[in-house]
Amino acid sequence: MVTLKSSRELKLMREAGRIVAQVLEAMKAKAAPGVTTAELNEEAERLIRKMGAIPSFKGYHGYPAAICTSINEQVVHGIPDGRRLNEGDILSVDVGAIYKGYHGDAAITIPIGTVSPEARRLLEVTEGALWAGIAKARAGLRTGDISAAIQDWVESRGMSVVREYTGHGIGRQMHEDPQIPNFGRAGTGYVLREGMTFALEPMVNLGTWKTKVLSDGWTVVTEDGKLSAHFEHTVAVTDGEPQVLTVL
Ligand code: MF3
Ligand code: CO
Repeated sequence: MVTLKSSRELKLMREAGRIVAQVLEAMKAKAAPGVTTAELNEEAERLIRKMGAIPSFKGYHGYPAAICTSINEQVVHGIPDGRRLNEGDILSVDVGAIYKGYHGDAAITIPIGTVSPEARRLLEVTEGALWAGIAKARAGLRTGDISAAIQDWVESRGMSVVREYTGHGIGRQMHEDPQIPNFGRAGTGYVLREGMTFALEPMVNLGTWKTKVLSDGWTVVTEDGKLSAHFEHTVAVTDGEPQVLTVL
């Protein structure tokens, strides 16, 4: 069931989104060579709780941490641990928080120090794909318009979109209907209406779109070991411009 949010609910989701954005800013500031992903996780959880929110990932289907940290060929759902970041790595950080019963969900991929030109290009294309999708989050368009915009943006730039994981409705639940794949056909899917809220989250690979899950049961990696990036925002469909909720 696709839920429509009232303006009161959208205000609360905006607050949840602001908290998520603040945590991502802190992660950007802290992520550097020598820092461990466990240290990032501890800081993120501390900040989320300090702002009166709950880390939504922790305990979700048994997930053990407050954030996901996915390095290089890791696509999503990497579990923070004692691994230290290296100069040249790319680090995807995914943060979710519940504030007054409403969810915010966003992710960024952070270059650690100086990264290769191809890594830099991957980050640019992935973030661009997210904004191409956001531009289609308008009443009267369809979910397939978002999917197609993301896929076209990526594939016309010679990269691939992950297919097994999708964007999603969000609100009182982290995952609500509808699913929003990062590939698809324009003019298909659900008609978008004012008050719908989505987490849009392209995952983009330099090589094949295919992925596999490591033996920890969580970490998703590219099948060919090439780099992957992930950008995500929670957005609301309004009577006009798309409203991005996970910003400061
Ligand atoms: N942004 C991810 C999602 O929407 C975060 C889920 S990670 C999990 O699915 F650990 F909570 F599963
Ligand atoms: Co999400």
